[in-house]
Amino acid sequence: MNTTINEALELVGALVEGLDGSEVAQLIVCPPFPWLTPVSAALGNTSIEIGAQNCAVENKGAFTGEVSAQMLVSAGCTAVIVGHSERRSLYGEDNQTIAKKLRMAIDSGLTVIFCIGETLEERQSGRLETIIADQLISALGNCSNDDYQSIIIAYEPVWAIGTGLTATPEQAQEVHKFIRNKVESISSADVANAVSILYGGSCNATNATSIFSQPDIDGGLIGGASLKAADFLTIARSF
Ligand code: PGA
Repeated sequence: MNTTINEALELVGALVEGLDGSEVAQLIVCPPFPWLTPVSAALGNTSIEIGAQNCAVENKGAFTGEVSAQMLVSAGCTAVIVGHSERRSLYGEDNQTIAKKLRMAIDSGLTVIFCIGETLEERQSGRLETIIADQLISALGNCSNDDYQSIIIAYEPVWAIGTGLTATPEQAQEVHKFIRNKVESISSADVANAVSILYGGSCNATNATSIFSQPDIDGGLIGGASLKAADFLTIARSF
């Protein structure tokens, strides 16, 4: 819930202006719902894609205040974030709800940026792997190998989001490896090797290079640092 319309357009304008072709292969910006259409227009024919931060469980109908995956497609989105930790903790979205959203988004033709991650308490009590496995299997357990072409996984330790605390590259790598192995066990080695696993949680222009240098870290989901075009572009060039 950041940016006014003017701030969003200024930000995206600076991004477009700053692009020099040396950025990561795929760049997606995810502004708030009301700015999707104007930001999409501002992106024009650039390679930057646009996604939303959430979508509804249902496809259409009397669900006041909700925005469906189908509506996002019609607003020009190619992607949507599903299962962000703030949706889980502040809005009570459980694994079952997130699985439904993921299915709805894939069936609507969107790429899903599917977020998972443990709280500090879960990590400290030794439940990290159980939590991550539950989050993964509940949403991806019924996905076909084809579905993975529309899935990007984002590992975001809850204790690192917006806190300035970053997982060390080694801590992140360990969990990314675990995630890739888990994906292999519920799909195939080819799918597991091909799926992108992003790191998110206080990733910034200074620490991005060391985080992205890990073998199982394929990119980043950037929150606070994405609100400054120069920082976001530096991160996009850090891979
Ligand atoms: P942060 O946010 O980069 O500010 O920690 C990440 C996120 O909200 O997903």
